[in-house]
Amino acid sequence: MLSTQAPFFFPTAPFILFVFTASTVFHLQQRLAKIQPTWELQTLESTTKDSPSSPQQGPQPKGMWTINAIGRLGNQMGEYATLYALAKMNGRPAFIPPQMHSTLAPIFRITLPVLHDTTASRIPWQNYPLNDWMEERYRHIPGEYVRLTGYPCSWTFYHHLRAEILQEFTLHNHVREEAQNFLRGLQVNGSRPSTYVGVHVRRGDYVHVMPNVWKGVVADRGYLRQALDWFRARYRSPIFVVTSNGMAWCRENIEASRGDVVFAGNGIEGSPAKDFALLTQCNHTIMTIGTFGIWAAYLTGGETIYLANYTLPDSPFLKIFKPEAAFLPDWTGIAADLSPLLKH
Ligand SMILES: *[C@@H]1O[C@H](CO)[C@@H](O)[C@H](O)[C@H]1NC(C)=O
Ligand SMILES: *[C@@H]1O[C@H](CO)[C@@H](O)[C@H](O)[C@H]1NC(C)=O
Ligand SMILES: *[C@@H]1O[C@H](CO)[C@@H](O)[C@H](O)[C@H]1NC(C)=O
Repeated sequence: MLSTQAPFFFPTAPFILFVFTASTVFHLQQRLAKIQPTWELQTLESTTKDSPSSPQQGPQPKGMWTINAIGRLGNQMGEYATLYALAKMNGRPAFIPPQMHSTLAPIFRITLPVLHDTTASRIPWQNYPLNDWMEERYRHIPGEYVRLTGYPCSWTFYHHLRAEILQEFTLHNHVREEAQNFLRGLQVNGSRPSTYVGVHVRRGDYVHVMPNVWKGVVADRGYLRQALDWFRARYRSPIFVVTSNGMAWCRENIEASRGDVVFAGNGIEGSPAKDFALLTQCNHTIMTIGTFGIWAAYLTGGETIYLANYTLPDSPFLKIFKPEAAFLPDWTGIAADLSPLLKH
């Protein structure tokens, strides 16, 4: 229910639903508090596969950690990676909810085991809310049955495990091949481009949410022109592969007359595999806003251009979002034009 409606970042209505869910969970937890889990974890193999050949040393980690599955693809990737990293840091086995598995498993070769709802409902979870950036106290979270909550999507949680995170988010072959077949067919002025730049333009609900809720803007045509020109100045005949949930706007606002822009993907929010794969099979990334673009850039690993400072300084957004925890230090920001917000 939540996962199909919630936009990236911190949606308002779904957030209320989440608070409601959290309080339901709390009451449930009170009712279940007397029921101690009478069984121990039996299947640890799947969580200890980073040392598959080494014999078990010492006692196996006890308990079970999980995280809420809220938001769409980018949010759930952030939740998955954060659970992966914090559980490992705290020496606890991690399990994902079935909803997260249905979002991520069709696209990626994820390995964390699924905790089924019937089992989850018997566990007296301790909810542990996270900010969207790493904090020292998260290294020592007490509790054997912890459910992390929030919308964490920050490299500060998991960048030290980058190789493992990239492994977890490896595309299934058929998903990658479909994107590769598309890219192989592209030409600029009659020849195969040597550099592919994935461009993700987040529109949809955020066109309204940014100004109305967050005193912010989304990417405009000026930003996209500057971002494309940045690559045109540095690479010989790059091609720009544009994906968006607002493709009509892109066709009107991204200059394509040089023949180096292709509008691709399908922009379907409910089945994001195609667009996401196209972006990550490119060599570099231009993102606008949203965790979908952040993840595409993180996995692509080339040069990244992002929209910087896209809210007014007094935006409530900045209380829950730290730019330096969202964008890697070696990514390049281009400041947003905030003048439309100052007109009133
Ligand atoms: C393609 O060729 C035309 C004509 O030579 C040139 O004007 C244009 O800039 C070229 N486009 C790219 C992306 O190199
Ligand atoms: C750039 O991306 C294309 C398409 O995925 C790939 O074939 C090529 O090897 C990449 N180039 C580099 C330098 O990684
Ligand atoms: C964004 O704002 C911060 C703080 O004012 C500034 O240090 C940074 O250079 C700005 N980023 C860009 C890309 O303009």
